[in-house]
Amino acid sequence: MSRDNFGSRFGALVAMAGSAVGLGNLWRFPYLVGENGGAAFIIIYIALSFVICLPIFISEFVVGRRSQENAYAAFRDLSGGSNWKWIGLLTVIIPMVVLSYYSVIGGWSMEYLLKSLTFSFTSAESQSAISTMFVDFVSNPWMPLIGHTAFLLVTALIVVVGIKDGIEKFSKVMMPLLFFIVLAIAIYSVTLPGAGKGVDYLFKPDFSKINAKVCAAALGQAFFSLSLGFGTILTYASYVDKNENILFQSTATAVSDLLFALIAGLAIMPAVFAFGIDPQSGPGLVFETLPYVFGKMPAGGLIAILFFLALLVAALTSSISMLEVGVAYLIEEKKFSRPAACALLFVICWVVGALCSLSFGPLSNLLIGGRTIFDFLDNCSSNILMTLGSLFTVLFVGWCLKKTDIYDEFTNGGSLSKNAKLFGILWFLIRYICPLAVAVIFVLGIL
Ligand code: PHE
Repeated sequence: MSRDNFGSRFGALVAMAGSAVGLGNLWRFPYLVGENGGAAFIIIYIALSFVICLPIFISEFVVGRRSQENAYAAFRDLSGGSNWKWIGLLTVIIPMVVLSYYSVIGGWSMEYLLKSLTFSFTSAESQSAISTMFVDFVSNPWMPLIGHTAFLLVTALIVVVGIKDGIEKFSKVMMPLLFFIVLAIAIYSVTLPGAGKGVDYLFKPDFSKINAKVCAAALGQAFFSLSLGFGTILTYASYVDKNENILFQSTATAVSDLLFALIAGLAIMPAVFAFGIDPQSGPGLVFETLPYVFGKMPAGGLIAILFFLALLVAALTSSISMLEVGVAYLIEEKKFSRPAACALLFVICWVVGALCSLSFGPLSNLLIGGRTIFDFLDNCSSNILMTLGSLFTVLFVGWCLKKTDIYDEFTNGGSLSKNAKLFGILWFLIRYICPLAVAVIFVLGIL
């Protein structure tokens, strides 16, 4: 059976960028900037994204496109059937775990979109009213569960259609839309009176804020935002045509991901400052602080609708990339049909996600290592498993695969002369610098 593939260069690019641009950019990046001291964090983030994460991104790309297989089979076959296949299996399992709780937040964005369509924020008297609205919402078992179900269902319905007609078509329409919405909000936000302080906060660095924790947070965020260590880039790359330029596609994805994060920062921070609100409000920033800001600004009702629409679209283009990792595995290794694979993974992720969703309410006392189920899974996967996934991938490419094979894949058989020139640096980064940096920052971050 021939494999489905991306139909065009633009299609492959927007699908990858769609995977990268997600809640990580619109929800996680802005609050991490707030928690880690603004511009200094952003500078570290940019440096780590390009020096450490881009080579890892390219490594995943090489593994996927060389093997043209799912993540598990790619590690197995490229290593000649060795134990590396277990790492492959790990990179299939991680995105399923993440999808389970990602879908809970995706569900929240759906319901906040509905709330904004009924102008629920404009009538709120104070910020505490909005916070209470959020706490009431997440601790009630039903509404978040319905949101989670709906979000996961839409994800599965896109993936079931396939690569070219499902994932690619959806991303082609949604990514440009997403870009214009976020850009429009950013332009609006920086023109609000008093917005200047927010812009300064984002772009005037205070280097005394930099320490190991900040670096670890920046690296973790860069991994998350570029979808690294999850098998997603690998799986998408396996559908990319052999004539495409890996360096171009990878750099373009990393640049668009960064651009989205910065524009999202500009959409949020200036507005938050303009209304005199503390930017350090953590994960609640998007759901507890922003709706209040929307409620106060002129035409805020409309901005709220646009913002939550953007959040939902960004989350969907990422969640489909996670689901595809498991679906590709089940189809190719376990001989499932695409619909059956989608259905099985829908059920599994639904159950795990439901537990996460309920951990904000009825199950809030059920703790694992002192954390709620949601926090535990988020922490475990985004801080530990993802870093390990990335570390192993880069070690696999640097130390297990043949250098000549990587050269061949990276330069399309030697025909891309610019890539050939850059290969030496790339190889050095992949073999020595990336694994070392990831290991050091990982250890410093957990100490
Ligand atoms: N990169 C996505 C985001 O920024 C999250 C993601 C992680 C998507 C891993 C796919 C795989 O939200």
